[in-house]
Amino acid sequence: MNITPVLDIRNLSVDFAGQGEVLRVVNNISLTVNPGETVGLVGESGSGKSVTSLAVMQLLQKPSGRIAEGEILLNINGTQTDLVKLKEEEVRRYRGKHMAMIFQEPMTSLNPVLTCGYQVAEALMLHEGLNKKQARERCIELFDHVKLPRPQAIYDAYPHQLSGGQKQRVMIAMAISCKPQLLIADEPTTALDVTVQKSIIELLGRLQQEYGMGIIFISHDLGVVSDIASRVAVMYKGKMVENATAADIFKNPQHPYTKGLLACRPQWISA
Ligand SMILES: Nc1ncnc2c1ncn2[C@@H]1O[C@H](COP(=O)(O)OP(=O)(O)O)[C@@H](O)[C@H]1O
Ligand SMILES: [Mg+2]
Repeated sequence: MNITPVLDIRNLSVDFAGQGEVLRVVNNISLTVNPGETVGLVGESGSGKSVTSLAVMQLLQKPSGRIAEGEILLNINGTQTDLVKLKEEEVRRYRGKHMAMIFQEPMTSLNPVLTCGYQVAEALMLHEGLNKKQARERCIELFDHVKLPRPQAIYDAYPHQLSGGQKQRVMIAMAISCKPQLLIADEPTTALDVTVQKSIIELLGRLQQEYGMGIIFISHDLGVVSDIASRVAVMYKGKMVENATAADIFKNPQHPYTKGLLACRPQWISA
């Protein structure tokens, strides 16, 4: 049976223009994500992971950042749309509803002057057509679902009143509030300590099973990615140097950079 990927990135290149020169920071990469699949995207800092995800979300900083080439096909209920070709107002129909993103630093997305609950409820009113009361109820259910303690109190709390892990859970609740078919998690656990990191990864795994989302999980840490992803793509200096099942990457890495990543990983993971 042929599964149509929920996301099909074909030959994507992204340029940044600055001070008279144009830099190609993502260079001809292709990547697919099937429904219900977690693909890990690994690479050192500056390799182009975030730029790739921002390109998918059509959130590249304009006018300096620009998709130079390629297609980004999003498949929603059997209809494939090339996001690159859409106008901004058309993209807004997809972003938040069909594709969502979680960032490393929750404060990139949470507004410090609005309560956590209001921010999630607002998305529910906009995309799901709920009224204020329904949105509040649904938001509190979601907070409970992502295992936030005292969801009612968190509804009325401001982001700065929460711990890092709690803020990340609010972000996840916001990202999954409209049951997106695609979730991009860009180093969502990098700023958290190891135990919190583990519980967030477990949460994402559980939500994926439940919703059947395709997930791109980004990290600079191959060990973290191998905990959650069935397939791993490795980026190096804007290029995709490896794209294989997690098992193959560990058994038979092709690119010297991947071999290097494996060599510096702690011994206990190789068991
Ligand atoms: N807004 C920007 N303007 C110019 N260059 C950028 C911008 N954002 C990212 N870059 C460059 O693109 C490259 C890839 O960055 P990024 O995707 O953020 O890396 P990472 O893999 O760490 O997420 C880096 O060289 C970075 O300096
Ligand atoms: Mg990044």
